Amino acid sequence: MSERLRIVGGARLHGEVSVCGAKNSALKLMAATLLAPGKTTISNVPEIADVGIMADLLTRLGCRVSRERNSVTIDVPQTPGHRADYDLVRKLRASINVLGPLVARLGEAEVALPGGDAIGSRGLDFHISGLEMLGATAHIEHGYVFASAPHGLKGAALALEFPSVGATENLLTAAVLASGTTVIENAAREPDFVDLGEFLISMGAEIEGLGTPTLTVHGVSTLHPTNHVTIPDRIVTGTWAFAAAMTEGDITILGGRAQDLELPLEKLASAGAIITSGTHGIRVRMEGRPKSIDIATLPYPGFPTDLQPLVICLNAIADGNAIVTENVFEGRFMFVNELVRLGAQISVDGHHASIHGVERLSGAPVAATDIRAGAALVLAGLASDGVTLVEDSFHIDRGYPSFPEELRALGADVTRESVD
Ligand code: UD1
Repeated sequence: MSERLRIVGGARLHGEVSVCGAKNSALKLMAATLLAPGKTTISNVPEIADVGIMADLLTRLGCRVSRERNSVTIDVPQTPGHRADYDLVRKLRASINVLGPLVARLGEAEVALPGGDAIGSRGLDFHISGLEMLGATAHIEHGYVFASAPHGLKGAALALEFPSVGATENLLTAAVLASGTTVIENAAREPDFVDLGEFLISMGAEIEGLGTPTLTVHGVSTLHPTNHVTIPDRIVTGTWAFAAAMTEGDITILGGRAQDLELPLEKLASAGAIITSGTHGIRVRMEGRPKSIDIATLPYPGFPTDLQPLVICLNAIADGNAIVTENVFEGRFMFVNELVRLGAQISVDGHHASIHGVERLSGAPVAATDIRAGAALVLAGLASDGVTLVEDSFHIDRGYPSFPEELRALGADVTRESVD
């Protein structure tokens, strides 16, 4: 049995919503606990299925994991297991994040090639060549990444070809326990990545340059457990900001951090949204139809690829024509075919999508293809006449703990339906 969402279009979303902790930080923090034996507690963890999968993976590696609402405590043994099996890893991209900590601590790791959202090819070449630069041998065979450094890792100068979030995370979590100094050039700067770096520092790691393209890591011989509060989810925050703009609504996003979303908020302002922010969060109001906006996705501080489907949906009902360029994941336009079912006028050519805004979309059955596309289709349904059914809504639950319930609290008519 699966679930779908039934959306009756027309509501203008209005009210307050609280932002959960960042999925793409919390899962990585959980994996990084492997670096230190003992009990680490991470709070403000979102209540989503992926956290359960990461907890199962850590349990399989010998950790004791307990969850209490949005807090997770992980008790890491002196010698965790070194093999992350396919049956769990296939469900979660972030499981690749156990690779760096396991090689650094145990001198060996075997991690199945990860799954996750179908948004295009997601290579591991930067992870592997970076570990080799740190003195490991690493290769892919029979669907697993094998990495080995029986005599420990050694600091090195690394330069990433592209500031991959996952590769920077794995190399940082390996370098913190390497002997000597590692310099990583062209490192990721995403706020979720910076949160991981702060977490490692609170475990005793010596890292300089977080949030800049050059990281300098002075390896230490051991790390200790810690307690950490996950940062608010910037993509969920951005989703609510687009929800206000698309429904001509007025939403106060409690806990949302404007500094993590400078470019998306600037773009929403040019679409006509009135945005105010402070320590409590961000308020986004929209009066009248949005104006179309051009964007190109890029690594942070560029426009986040995870918000690209929301930009396409906003442009689908905006006044004017827009071009959206996807530079990070080539598969992220897959959901466009679904949006076209609602009457959107979009043509895709390579990594560019041209969108001609229409006054109103018309409700239809569609399918969620990944987390963000799923959320975007629900919002498009709200901006459509009649009923929209979004099939495979489990994708949405992977990134948003209670999306339909929160939408209802803001005045939307959205219900979960079971499908045989
Ligand atoms: C993470 C996020 C994802 C987000 C993305 C970019 C998680 C679980 N997912 O994904 O939601 O959209 O960052 O902000 O945190 N690449 C290679 N070789 C490598 C590594 C990456 O070619 O070794 C390519 C990928 O195929 C992709 C691009 O680099 O085209 C970006 O990938 P990366 O930044 O690594 O994204 P993820 O960490 O997988």
